[in-house]
Amino acid sequence: MVRKTLIAGNWKMNGLSEDGQALAKGVALEAKKAARKDCEFLICPPFTLLGLAKKAIKGSRVMLGAQDCHFAEKGAHTGDISPVMLKDAGCQYVIVGHSERRTDHYESDELVQKKATAAIAAGLKVIICIGETEAERDAGKTIDICTAQINGSVPECSTAQNTVIAYEPVWAIGTGRTPTTAEVEDVHAAIRKVIGKKLGRANANKMRILYGGSMKPSNAKELLALPDVDGGLIGGASLKVADFMAIAEASKQ
Ligand code: 13P
Repeated sequence: MVRKTLIAGNWKMNGLSEDGQALAKGVALEAKKAARKDCEFLICPPFTLLGLAKKAIKGSRVMLGAQDCHFAEKGAHTGDISPVMLKDAGCQYVIVGHSERRTDHYESDELVQKKATAAIAAGLKVIICIGETEAERDAGKTIDICTAQINGSVPECSTAQNTVIAYEPVWAIGTGRTPTTAEVEDVHAAIRKVIGKKLGRANANKMRILYGGSMKPSNAKELLALPDVDGGLIGGASLKVADFMAIAEASKQ
């Protein structure tokens, strides 16, 4: 089963015009030169940089995504951005349900599912994030938590074409710590099973499941070599062109 590797950068709340533009341009340029012709590149800058990033990656193989969206198409929602607006701004992807949104903005599975449904309806692809906290892992609840999050956050309209799952253990984000490769593969395989039950075997076999949480050039090769890891959702290391590209080069064919 061939699933195209997706190397996605989540810039989070980082970047002003000058450095953001330079980062996007750098990724576009290096992606052209990259030996790996068969993986997909995605950058997800903050909303304020989407326009500049779109220009900077124009004509390259790098795709554009946003980090969140509202579920409504338009209207009285001060400070929010709709999926239709993101599409209009040149995005192909949007991340929903990142643990930082779930924590900082109290986002529930139900809300994440509404956002994903609206984004898919607007013609965007969604990256739906799930993952356990350290306490949940210590309590042996990792698979239960991920199962509940998938069942609650992934909409019925999800398919392998419009949805990507990102497994991001909360305790591994920005900490430099990662689960062992065996633990990552266990969770990814379990996620694929749950997706299979929810959306059917065909979708589960084709759907990409990314790993996220302290992925960097030094650990990318072993993580991306795992059979059920189909790419990475990269935070800190996506802010440096060389690190981001090194992760892509480390990915499996
Ligand atoms: P880090 O790569 O900085 O750990 O962040 C991972 C992440 O949250 C990507 O969405």
